[in-house]
Amino acid sequence: MNTNYLEAVEKAASFLKDKGMQTPQIGLILGSGLGELADEATDTIEVAYENIPGFPVSTVEGHAGKLVYGDLGGKKVLAMQGRFHYYEGYSLKEVTFPVRVMKALGVSSLVVTNAAGGVNENFTPGDLMIITDHINLTSDNPLLGPNNNDLGPRFTDMSEAYDKGYQSLIEAAGEENGLSVQKGVYLGLAGPTYETPAEVRMIRTLGGDAVGMSTVPEVIVARHAGLKVAGISCITNFAAGLQESLNHDEVVEVTTRVRESFKSLVKTLIEKM
Ligand code: HPA
Repeated sequence: MNTNYLEAVEKAASFLKDKGMQTPQIGLILGSGLGELADEATDTIEVAYENIPGFPVSTVEGHAGKLVYGDLGGKKVLAMQGRFHYYEGYSLKEVTFPVRVMKALGVSSLVVTNAAGGVNENFTPGDLMIITDHINLTSDNPLLGPNNNDLGPRFTDMSEAYDKGYQSLIEAAGEENGLSVQKGVYLGLAGPTYETPAEVRMIRTLGGDAVGMSTVPEVIVARHAGLKVAGISCITNFAAGLQESLNHDEVVEVTTRVRESFKSLVKTLIEKM
């Protein structure tokens, strides 16, 4: 990792501190259709990604996002409303840049969320899933290249990528909100194609319960940086082969339908963290 990258992280962090994002405790990455949760935060400070020095420049319409700092569930949170995806053409160092900035600002925990396809046949669109572990099949890794020991160790332990204590808290938060929450392994691919039916069979054989195109890079960097991670997937569809066809509108439609449950689940989780 070169000095320029580190300097860029520090520059973005000090820019955001100057904007008033002083003491964030929990970072929050809000996936496709799930960004509305940030609107629940109070006393907010918001900065569009395009105005943050060093942040990747978004090229895709509808993915233009912003950082929202504020109070949520009794904590100071720093939420990403929208994330950067590998399939958009960003390198994984760019995709995970915001996680480095969160760490530089003092965040100690990260909540990652996403929309995902259900591979486990017991899952139904609209289910929320506690991510218990992941499988990185993006064919890339954000930590490739020289390691900067100030950012984290050369070889990062991934034996508890998703904190067990946080998994229990999500479960408790689900019970409190009367939601039945699934549990499973998230398998991350590069995308942007959805999977073929044969690929879905492969994913099931490999032990994936849900499949998506995000999250894995951010969690790798979060663990490298020593952040504790909680992960929640919104199952938006039966993965290909389990339903007739699949399109992005459907993914967005389902996230909209479960938005209220999702918001209460994450809010209660943050209260408990
Ligand atoms: N596959 C990959 N990514 C996804 C899916 C899917 O079925 N649904 C939502 N994101």
